[in-house]
Amino acid sequence: MNLVVLGAQWGDEGKGKIIDFMSDNADVVVRYQGGNNAGHTVVLADKKFVLHLIPSGILRAGKKCIIGNGTVIDPVYLLEEMKYVEGLGIKLNGNLFVSEAAHVIMPYHKILDRLNEAKSGKKGKIGTTSRGIGPCYVDKAGRLGIRMVDLLNKEILAEKLKANLELKNYLVKNYYKEKTFSFEKILSEYLACGEKLRHFIKNTYVMLEQAAKNGKKVLFEGAQGTMLDVDFGTYPYVTSSNSTAGGACTGAGFSPSRVNKVIGVTKAYTTRVGEGPFPTELPVELNDELRGRGNEFGATTGRPRRCGWLDMVVLKHANAVNGFHSFAVTKLDVLSGLKEIQICVAYKYKGKKMTEFPADLKALRESTPVYKAFKGWTEDICGVKKYSELPDNTKRYLEALTGLSGVNISMFSVGPDRNQTIITDKNLWK
Ligand code: GDP
Ligand code: IMO
Ligand code: MG
Repeated sequence: MNLVVLGAQWGDEGKGKIIDFMSDNADVVVRYQGGNNAGHTVVLADKKFVLHLIPSGILRAGKKCIIGNGTVIDPVYLLEEMKYVEGLGIKLNGNLFVSEAAHVIMPYHKILDRLNEAKSGKKGKIGTTSRGIGPCYVDKAGRLGIRMVDLLNKEILAEKLKANLELKNYLVKNYYKEKTFSFEKILSEYLACGEKLRHFIKNTYVMLEQAAKNGKKVLFEGAQGTMLDVDFGTYPYVTSSNSTAGGACTGAGFSPSRVNKVIGVTKAYTTRVGEGPFPTELPVELNDELRGRGNEFGATTGRPRRCGWLDMVVLKHANAVNGFHSFAVTKLDVLSGLKEIQICVAYKYKGKKMTEFPADLKALRESTPVYKAFKGWTEDICGVKKYSELPDNTKRYLEALTGLSGVNISMFSVGPDRNQTIITDKNLWK
């Protein structure tokens, strides 16, 4: 049984928490796209752990964790995160494997990310995490990229780095009017990283094929979310990888015929961090209220997240692209105490109802949400252990979510802690 768990919105849906919860039943947990732009939070007995690159499954003893070929890896950062995890008393040797084919985020990618954003100005910038993600994927597609395996061979790394710096140094010097990069400095730093990572760098798709053949349970941990997917998101206000279900196959080297279910993680409302259209974004006052209640600040950059109502046009679009088996609904507790809760059921564009998410951002910007209102609840639901314990209005809200999206709910969550997750589908792993 192999499951993909991914974000149905604009990221930060609570994937880390859900993956940690589900990892209990898994043998292998795999990150397959993105890099340390992700920030996945797990809370255990009031202690908060944030992972940016290593799969969240690492917090459960003995689980094998893989960083797949579709990810982009900043090796300097990876070594830092490995130290952090080891500091928690978790053994990485024999539990963590990094794909030899994953592309390396080089120092110039991080600088170019910042320079591109600065050059684009307030109006044109994407609002990236400035981790070098976009420029690294550009080089991957441009066939200039340096891969993890290259860090293990001085001659090859030197040759590739030289070719890259010729172009990058020309660009930073002449276009951005900035300082150029030193070949020697990068070469020695990245060779040293390669040496430290040597025993972790493997042919990971072969390991996954073996795991599948041996009947092991593989859990794929999506990063970002459907609306940040480079093909299906609000392009160009997206990340540079496929954060939708197909990305799990290409980003891990895992056949689609072996994926059994795709679970979409959705907040009970919506958030977005960074620039770009967000149809159900709330006006300042309610936005601030929801942010305060949900503690909506980025786990990677600390930026305040933009908040809005749940958007069914988005969730249906996400379901169409990903084919969800079910939703994991998070942060339901955050809505407690609100008098009225809205769900956007369509957009109105040029006087007409639109229920399909448009690729045309101009149309999206000129659309207004059509809302359906639901009565709130006043009860504190943080301690709820069963669906039947939820207030009637909470049940109605969840029923509406299922009814409007056509997707069942297999779990919901009423607080950040691991044990504040309630599973409603006992057959999830069957
Ligand atoms: P991810 O990127 O999808 O893993 O999500 P993040 O970790 O960036 O953001 C989700 C935030 O919500 C984290 O601070 C979690 O601890 C928190 N969280 C997750 N589920 C719940 C929940 O059900 N209720 C509350 N109040 N917080 C939650
Ligand atoms: P997790 O996995 C929310 C957003 C950035 C920016 C856009 C492009 O924690 O859900 P990038 O640095 O990827 O080039 O930035 O994507 N973004 C995220 N937003 N959660 C994330 O990851 C994100 N990763 C990137 O804010 O708008
Ligand atoms: Mg996050």
